[in-house]
Amino acid sequence: MELIRIPRIMHDTSRGHILHGRSIGFVPTMGALHEGHLSLIKRSKDENDITVVSIFVNPLQFGPSEDFQQYPRDTDGDVAKLRKAEADVLFMPDASQVYPSGFMTHIEVGEISEKLCGAFRPGHFRGVVTIVAKLFNIVKPTRAYFGQKDFQQAAVIRKMVKDLDVPVDVVVSPTIREHDGLAMSSRNLYLNEEERKAACVIYRCLIQTSELLKSGIINKEKLKGFMKEKLSAEPLVREIQYASMYDPETLDEVENAGKEVLLAVSVKIGGTRLIDNMLVKA
Ligand code: PAJ
Repeated sequence: MELIRIPRIMHDTSRGHILHGRSIGFVPTMGALHEGHLSLIKRSKDENDITVVSIFVNPLQFGPSEDFQQYPRDTDGDVAKLRKAEADVLFMPDASQVYPSGFMTHIEVGEISEKLCGAFRPGHFRGVVTIVAKLFNIVKPTRAYFGQKDFQQAAVIRKMVKDLDVPVDVVVSPTIREHDGLAMSSRNLYLNEEERKAACVIYRCLIQTSELLKSGIINKEKLKGFMKEKLSAEPLVREIQYASMYDPETLDEVENAGKEVLLAVSVKIGGTRLIDNMLVKA
């Protein structure tokens, strides 16, 4: 595996692959890699000639009171996992190279950035989209891989790619879960033992709500009420930020489920914010 730290070198490396007619699969990450990340890498390897993984904890997507400083960092562990997964290139730039002094250009996707997580994390998706657009320009992927776990993030990136005619295929891959259903996340490392056990309430709530939906209960207020009840039954759930049924395209709440809907949840367990979602056909 080649380790590249300088954007210019990554740029030239990708150009070389493209000149040789090789397809480039790209998996952007913030590191602290787990099986969710590795599933994207595996898929990229299956579908492309070269797989590039980036690790960059992007300060621009963290709010002032968020966890940028504490965000788990494990470069040695990550490098070992990437070697084992046979990634071809690890791109790991320094913040000073990505955001040199005087940096002042940002990309903002409208409405769909302001709902769900966007309502609780102002500026978050502006930071995500700006770094992803920069990484796309540096890495020049044929295809880029994102997890369904961050459904809104993938939707916002898709929108940016479409609106700005970015020549990258965005591929969204299923959520990988722990044995009890908890969606894998680098932030799960923040949970203590009790909180970790409590966190599986999120998946249980999604499963039970999807069963209700499939049994014919399609009204938003009923389903939302059920979700809130399930989540608040767990004493360690400190805050329910959102829990409802949404249109997977617009991310607007849906009054009565028609075709496919997105069930999505964001809760705080202790001080840790956890999200999850499920696509369900009514
Ligand atoms: P990060 O949280 O490291 O996630 C990197 C990619 O892994 C994202 O596409 C995310 O959706 C995916 N992922 C995370 N958990 C997953 C799981 N359990 N199953 C499947 N995929 C999973 O998301 C980011 O980083 C950043 O916002 C980034 C896109 C890199 C921009 O900074």
